[in-house]
Amino acid sequence: MPLALGKDVLDKARREGYAVPSFNTNNLEITQAILETAEALRAPVFIQVSDGARKYAGLENLSNLVRDMASRVSVPVVLHLDHGADYKMVLQALRAGFTSVMIDASHHPFEENVHETQRCVEAAHAVGVSVEAELGRLQGIEDNIVVDAKDAFLTDPDEAERFVEATGIDYLAIAIGTSHGAYKGKGRPYIDHARLEQIATRVSIPLVLHGSSGVPQWLKDKMSATGADLGDPTGIHDEDVRKAIPNGIAKINIDTDLRLAFSAGIREVVVGNPKEFDPRKLLGKGREYLKQVIKEKFELMGTVGRA
Ligand code: 13P
Repeated sequence: MPLALGKDVLDKARREGYAVPSFNTNNLEITQAILETAEALRAPVFIQVSDGARKYAGLENLSNLVRDMASRVSVPVVLHLDHGADYKMVLQALRAGFTSVMIDASHHPFEENVHETQRCVEAAHAVGVSVEAELGRLQGIEDNIVVDAKDAFLTDPDEAERFVEATGIDYLAIAIGTSHGAYKGKGRPYIDHARLEQIATRVSIPLVLHGSSGVPQWLKDKMSATGADLGDPTGIHDEDVRKAIPNGIAKINIDTDLRLAFSAGIREVVVGNPKEFDPRKLLGKGREYLKQVIKEKFELMGTVGRA
């Protein structure tokens, strides 16, 4: 069916107390793994395109790929711009047929963030597209964006209320302790659940959690078994994700776990079959592991059977 609107999918999720994963795509195999798993599990899903993906594969190419493939599945699929850098980027995504855009002006002071977000909301709403914006700043590395600990700060609940009111956004990304990438900190990476509860009582629109990969042990094991040297990667614990959902988290972004799954499959074939040079064999195994981790995310977030 045609792409779904972000707001429709997330309003329902927050109302009914489950979350919808937003998976980053860069190519055919990742998109196939997401859509085939969503269809099989009757789960609504977001597919998002980052700045790095746009540079690697092209915004139009990815948009055409996702829209075409989504037209042949019967669950709601939202095509989302992840971390739109500015107004111009948001307009490009609107023109390319995205049904949800994120404007990330969170590095600006509050008033400037409000102003930049307002402009994007006006443009996107004029053509019926939903908008996500961010308040607070996550630590970590994601494609071209590197945020140091000193530049990261958590979302203030009062500011969150004012921000949503002033901008008219459809869902709000908040910083509550998660971070992008495969190294989410020494010891136990945490979610500030008390802060989340305070935000959820003041903000009634769906909340978005970035930096939510779990870096599961089975993927770490597979990577190590093929000689990967990742040091000591850490992710968000499943019980923290589960606990956040009843407090308004309705969209949960996952990129790192997909990267690990895809790489683990490719590495397994490359390392185990020195004579193999058929790219379909290499990528096919990666796609199989992608499906496995995607299924785990739908189950974790309560998305199965919601379509
Ligand atoms: P992870 O790096 O934890 O997968 O987070 C991805 C993300 O938040 C994309 O916006």
